[in-house]
Amino acid sequence: MSDFDPKKVDAVVLVGGKGTRLRPLTLSLPKPMLPTAGFPFLTHLLSRIAAAGIEHVVLGTSYKAAVFENEFGDGSKLGLQIEYVFEPEPLGTGGGIANVSEKLRHDTAVVFNGDVLSGADLGELLQFHHNHDAQVSMHLVRVSDPRAFGSVPTDSDGRVTAFLEKTDDPPTDQINAGCYVFDREIIDRIPRGREVSVEREVFPALLADDVKICGYVDASYWRDMGTPEDFVRGSSDLVRGLAPSPALGGHRGESLVHDGASVAPGAVLVGGTVVGRGAEIGPGVRLDGAVIFDGARVEAGSMIERSIIGFGAHIGPRALIRDGVIGDGAVIGARCELLRGARVWPGVVLPDCGIRYSSDV
Ligand code: GDD
Ligand code: MG
Repeated sequence: MSDFDPKKVDAVVLVGGKGTRLRPLTLSLPKPMLPTAGFPFLTHLLSRIAAAGIEHVVLGTSYKAAVFENEFGDGSKLGLQIEYVFEPEPLGTGGGIANVSEKLRHDTAVVFNGDVLSGADLGELLQFHHNHDAQVSMHLVRVSDPRAFGSVPTDSDGRVTAFLEKTDDPPTDQINAGCYVFDREIIDRIPRGREVSVEREVFPALLADDVKICGYVDASYWRDMGTPEDFVRGSSDLVRGLAPSPALGGHRGESLVHDGASVAPGAVLVGGTVVGRGAEIGPGVRLDGAVIFDGARVEAGSMIERSIIGFGAHIGPRALIRDGVIGDGAVIGARCELLRGARVWPGVVLPDCGIRYSSDV
């Protein structure tokens, strides 16, 4: 039985980053708002927060801030009360947390990186924080390559002993999963009025001050959606039901085709492909793990694997796109081949061809 009332907890979501690694898609939308399995990514996180019984959410915004409020408003559609705090100049992850302090209503806040797809049980995390009498609790997961994350060793009692952000030689494969429970008074210790990194500055300083930080380790689904590769995988895992999201109401299948999209007979959609509203998929097209944004058009006989096709982009007939990112409104001519991480900027027109592109164009 839980004795921790989620209604007495604030949620804070950091969504102010520029999403550089997901360019060119993030030129038009901030990363947490990119469509993922048919919803702005953040919808999956917010619906998870709501499902845990938390009611009050503060979004720390900066880059393209207005988009969030336009989409979520006061949060009532999700059963939440959402407020927004804008950073005209990004304050960093720590600065972003400190900056929402006036909006917090309770003594405990759970802080989320806004680009993480996770199945962690928030009720259990809060209970863990309570039971361990921790001042900060941190969700930790094990990954095969910890170098791109915060490496977080713990002792035999589960107490965090160090925090090493993005090092070449991390001491453990146990990493910061981007979700923390903070006692309110710890948030009030974060320096104000300047850029502060919670990972590089706040956590090391708290550890040096002997603040009790505990690591909650679990084996639930976890993925940072920050790169095209992870974005494609995360979206596909949502469609296939491997990644949980209350927003999807238990959907599970090889593909998800949204209202108003048309898929010609003979097109094959597999690997957790998602087709957005108003998109058109021609005959003989094969989509495998593809993320097709609203209004995009894919002509007959094209093959798209593990790639993202931006809003209103047009893929000509018999094209091949593998591990690519096609910007909004770009036009890929007939028979073009884009392979291995090729990225096409919005509005770029590639003429019909037989040429193979395999790097940025
Ligand atoms: N409000 C605000 N202000 N938000 C910010 C700012 C800022 O200045 N800078 C970044 N954010 C938000 C981003 O929008 C994102 O949701 C979150 O903070 C984390 O930023 P990322 O840029 O995605 O960081 P990362 O993925 O390289 O690393 C972080 O996440 C990993 C787990 O996914 C770190 O916390 C790592 O330690 C962690 O392992
Ligand atoms: Mg990230």
